[in-house]
Amino acid sequence: MDHKVEAVVKAYQARADEEVAIARGLVSENRQRDLDDLLLPIGAAAAQFVNLLIKEAKARAILEVGTSYGYSTVWLAEAARESGGTVTTLELHPRKIDHAREKMAEAGLADYVDFRLGDALETLAALPGPFDFVLLDLWKDLYVASFDAIYPKLADGALIVADNMLYPERARANADAYRDRVRAAPDMTSVLLPIGSGLEVSRYR
Ligand SMILES: C[S@@+](CC[C@H](N)C(=O)[O-])C[C@H]1O[C@@H](n2cnc3c(N)ncnc32)[C@H](O)[C@@H]1O
Repeated sequence: MDHKVEAVVKAYQARADEEVAIARGLVSENRQRDLDDLLLPIGAAAAQFVNLLIKEAKARAILEVGTSYGYSTVWLAEAARESGGTVTTLELHPRKIDHAREKMAEAGLADYVDFRLGDALETLAALPGPFDFVLLDLWKDLYVASFDAIYPKLADGALIVADNMLYPERARANADAYRDRVRAAPDMTSVLLPIGSGLEVSRYR
């Protein structure tokens, strides 16, 4: 990883460390609004894991569902640069995309990321695929619908990594529903890994 990427990752990490305390103190009535101010990153272990999976699989058509402020996107884009691919990343909020776009430029990775603003389910319906690698990390009640939209567009050998399978506990019911759906889909092989907040790693064919 080059020094520009390292510097951007370090700055994200510093912000994430500060935000842990803020996230713990969130009050329920403002919860959704406040969550939208936070990075909500997949974390260093999960980020390193998806980065190495993409490199090992030589995945080129990389899809991220849930950009937030771009922490995971940097790791995906760094891997895309090595695999000769690009990342298409989906996010609802323009200010998050603006921030992520700036960070990609700072990291020297702007050429490897295609930002798509809007509701992910609508964007997914319009994306042709096929996808070689997918990171699923939007709000958890949308995981099953997102999987249903992505599944017909998976390339042979495609990998899907879904975050938050174990934590936070309030997401557990949606996470379980997602894992049931993936495991019931034809030609999917899937395993739960205790990395970060819990990753379901699934392969097509
Ligand atoms: C957990 S955060 C993503 C964190 C990011 N992957 C990272 O590791 O830095 C989830 C993101 O999904 C976005 N999101 C939620 N529902 C969405 C939808 N329907 N369409 C697009 N983005 C959505 C939220 O705005 C939020 O920024």
